[in-house]
Amino acid sequence: MSSKDIDRYLDFYYRVTGKERREVDKDLFETIEEVFDVATVKAILDLVRRGMLYELKGVVSAGKEARVYWGVDKEGRDLAVKIYLTTSAEFRKGILKYIRGDPRFEGKVPSSFRKLIMLWARKEFRNYKLMYETGVSVPKPIAQHENILIMEFIGERGRRAPLLKEVVLSEDAYYELFKGLLLDVRKMYLRAGLVHSDLSEYNVMIWRGRHYIIDVSQSVKRTHPNAMDFLKRDLRNIHRYFRDELGLEVPSVEVMFKYVIGHEEMFSNPIN
Ligand SMILES: Nc1ncnc2c1ncn2[C@@H]1O[C@H](COP(=O)(O)OP(=O)(O)O)[C@@H](O)[C@H]1O
Ligand SMILES: [Mg+2]
Repeated sequence: MSSKDIDRYLDFYYRVTGKERREVDKDLFETIEEVFDVATVKAILDLVRRGMLYELKGVVSAGKEARVYWGVDKEGRDLAVKIYLTTSAEFRKGILKYIRGDPRFEGKVPSSFRKLIMLWARKEFRNYKLMYETGVSVPKPIAQHENILIMEFIGERGRRAPLLKEVVLSEDAYYELFKGLLLDVRKMYLRAGLVHSDLSEYNVMIWRGRHYIIDVSQSVKRTHPNAMDFLKRDLRNIHRYFRDELGLEVPSVEVMFKYVIGHEEMFSNPIN
């Protein structure tokens, strides 16, 4: 984007938000300028105009496929704004295997990369919604527009909560967490009909004594041809972390698997 474009968008931004022109607001566009194309900036402004977003404050995470920003809405509520990058070719190859075979996207693999990314963002939003509605502990999804997903911010005043990988808990707390996580994987499978497919200590946040499962763009319906492999991989990751890294005694992957798919009441905590 050229600086002339930026100026045009800034004018628009001040008009729709009714804000005073301030140097700090330039930050919004300075970070955006490097990473995003014009269409993404427009999409951000659509969200501003619709009143879903008021400010983008700072980068929380800069991944290869998406950036997560701390945003704020008109009421001053913190938001997590995940913006998918529309520029990575690796990304395209990577995501096709999750979209093909998902009945929700049957016959709808778009040829344009931007469209594919939009589909990906929509898929993550729908997965979050399904999980949230079936009682899985995930951030509350708020809105999705083009390649942008807005959700509840886990953390405080722009400081994200730590990941499971980053916390140190008591042994009892870890056991509770293990049970809670597995119960959520089970709810995901039995109630939402979904398999996370990238579950690990890097995609669980811990905040105020509670866990939040995140990063669900690649989650698939349990009817996806590879769903069972993805589920076993998820369970192996959890098992590896709790047993090998934390040294806790946890049930075998086979027992975890049976519990998740509803064949065994491992914790006498039945759900259906
Ligand atoms: N709702 C949220 N609230 C606060 N931080 C978040 C939220 N969602 C994601 N993050 C932060 O952004 C990082 C990347 O998000 P994630 O959805 O895992 O995308 P990626 O595909 O880049 O791993 C997470 O590791 C976490 O630190
Ligand atoms: Mg992640």
